[in-house]
Amino acid sequence: MKNEREKISLNGGWSFHAGDLSDFEYISHDDIYNSSKAGGKKGAPARDFDDGGWKKVNVPHDYIIEQNTDEKAAADWGYRRKNNAWYRKSLILDGGYEGNRIVIGFEGVATECTVYFNGSVVKRNYSGYNSFEVDITDRAALDGTPNILAVYINGKAFEGWWYEGAGIYRNVWLNILPPVHFAEEPYIICEKVNETDWAVTVTGAINGDCSGKKVTVKKIITDYLDNVTAEFETQSHTVKDPFIWDINSPALYRLTTRLYIDGVKCDSYQSIFGFRTIEVSADKGFFLNGRHVKIKGTCNHQDFAGLGTAVPDSVWEYKIQRLRAMGCNSYRSAHGTASEGLLKACDKYGVILMDENRNFETSEECLEQLRTMVKRDRNHPSVVFYSLFNEEPIQGTPQGKNMTLHMIKEIRRLDGERFITGAVNEGILNENGVSALLDIAGINYQINEYDNFHKKFEKLPVIATETNSSFQVRGCTKTNNENHTFSCYDEDAAGWGNTVRETWEAALTRDFITGAFTWTGFDYLGEPTPHTYPSVSSFFGMMDTCGFEKGGFYLTKALWSDNPYVHVLPHWNFEEGEDVRVMSCTNCEEAELFINGKSQGKVRIDKFKQHTWDVKFETGDLKLVGYNKGIEVKSCVKKTAGAVSKILLTPAFDAFSGDITAIPVTVTAADENGTEVPYADNILTLSVSGGVILGTGNGDPNCHENFKGKKRSLFAGKAMVIIAANKGMQNVMLKVSADGLNEKARLVIPVQ
Ligand code: GAL
Repeated sequence: MKNEREKISLNGGWSFHAGDLSDFEYISHDDIYNSSKAGGKKGAPARDFDDGGWKKVNVPHDYIIEQNTDEKAAADWGYRRKNNAWYRKSLILDGGYEGNRIVIGFEGVATECTVYFNGSVVKRNYSGYNSFEVDITDRAALDGTPNILAVYINGKAFEGWWYEGAGIYRNVWLNILPPVHFAEEPYIICEKVNETDWAVTVTGAINGDCSGKKVTVKKIITDYLDNVTAEFETQSHTVKDPFIWDINSPALYRLTTRLYIDGVKCDSYQSIFGFRTIEVSADKGFFLNGRHVKIKGTCNHQDFAGLGTAVPDSVWEYKIQRLRAMGCNSYRSAHGTASEGLLKACDKYGVILMDENRNFETSEECLEQLRTMVKRDRNHPSVVFYSLFNEEPIQGTPQGKNMTLHMIKEIRRLDGERFITGAVNEGILNENGVSALLDIAGINYQINEYDNFHKKFEKLPVIATETNSSFQVRGCTKTNNENHTFSCYDEDAAGWGNTVRETWEAALTRDFITGAFTWTGFDYLGEPTPHTYPSVSSFFGMMDTCGFEKGGFYLTKALWSDNPYVHVLPHWNFEEGEDVRVMSCTNCEEAELFINGKSQGKVRIDKFKQHTWDVKFETGDLKLVGYNKGIEVKSCVKKTAGAVSKILLTPAFDAFSGDITAIPVTVTAADENGTEVPYADNILTLSVSGGVILGTGNGDPNCHENFKGKKRSLFAGKAMVIIAANKGMQNVMLKVSADGLNEKARLVIPVQ
């Protein structure tokens, strides 16, 4: 028996079968009788089923993304067919677990699934967005006989109008628990008492028999350097002068909660938490640690280039780094519960999270999904808002309001601190609408109603849960409906949406608007609005599906940044003498454009309008200089690139280590001077030794290359390859050749 809790990854070594298996036909009494007994399921759940011909995979795994696009499939889902599938995994549990509880933890399986263990159904789960656990203790063989875990995926089921993928697309864990153990993660509440003192209260529940015994729970708080900050056995304790979790300095603490029965240690749980205060006012918006912070956020779905929804934690980290680079301080997990990887990254990088419930229902099943989200996420300092719903047609009806109240009550029993909102699209000005029930009213779009709303509900804080929905394609200078392209000049948006500039002018110039979430930070698969095939991913992102900047990125950064910022659009590669529109993205008071050193005029800048210059292209340099109080403070230069002469490989992380299990590598075409070539579309051939290619992408919403192939064309000069290391390797080497170039680019990433 293990006296310590163990958490072992079950991500490796799965067998996978795409599609349904031909049904076992039940005719004989014996088959029907035996199959109705514990452990008697026939076919793939059975222990003796032969899965030798199945594909070997590791999870996170999204099998829909392996498919080619299909014009007849749904645009919403990125023109990929939904399908069912099976997974199987053999588990040898000979680690001396007699007397332990054995629990398998799934962070997320899409969409609906049935989990079998040794031929018995042990769980049916009905949402792709909630985590769930399966206790297999009673049915597990501990003598070295293989146990069989089988998961049937109903991947045809769906919960959204965007690409959702399917499969065991988040991590899976084997949790070995001591016989008496914490029933769930202890709940940590940090309340600021005065300028220096914080009251830390820890509550929890215990599973197992400890009747008649002395139960002691010891708590040890350590800071990020592992210094012990506090040790206590009481439920509450005062911590003096802790480091504060903030968007600029996200200090995290660890709480180790130890359970002793009659003085003997029985269990121990590690939690990450932080000290911070949150407040919101109807007039002034959001305050973090007593300081006003405008919510500068983006909404995002889960997928990433090459990976679909199977996004490893380190790729979440990369995504959050990219958003931080744009100046983003908040993230709305639209429209479903955040993954663990996202939560960790938001905690680490100081990003405020709006965690969203997927299913607006008050059936027991859906309330359990809601409770699971809250119980899992309520220690995370990044989680500040819970969103109950997004654009629900019944939001304002008596039934919608009953449901909202019911859900609020459920959350309040578990978390009394965080703000509850919902993304309302219609009827926002109705006296009897749903908004008044929420801590903060959430408005989707309708920027022209902000003032009316505030006038009518002057005591109600309000946040723009969703805004923008503008269209751009990376590197593109001309909107063309035939080619399905959109320019970088922030001139195209959905009918219900607004440009980047309109969006942020509305949100940033009104104190009562707590902040806003741009639809979206990244392009995502599906919803190629306003187009259909051959467009397969969205045009909404400030970045493309790889996290490469579009024009909207620079414009948003200029509008969000408190420091002087200058960027000039577009690139500087055209035909000699061609008419080119040049646009500023700056928050400086004045800007001056230079072509090969010749001034094209200095202008005053209204940052919500920006400025465009119509110029003739000349090979050389395009330079934009920003001035404050007449003094040059920042500049940006774009150079004309020559022919592609090399390929540059830039990894997002220097080494594989700890949580960094997958590394996105940016592939850039450059001329002989190292200047990026913005029109390059060379076809790349990729190979890797010591590791695997998890997927590739290039951010082109109209591209149909398979995400899992070894070939990938550059789009507007760039592509992305995501690689992982094989077990036991010291280095992973990536080689990339490009058509038209003799030399291969090479990158070696160490494994630590
Ligand atoms: C919103 C919706 C989003 C997305 C967006 C596109 O109404 O909440 O999920 O569809 O429109 O503009």
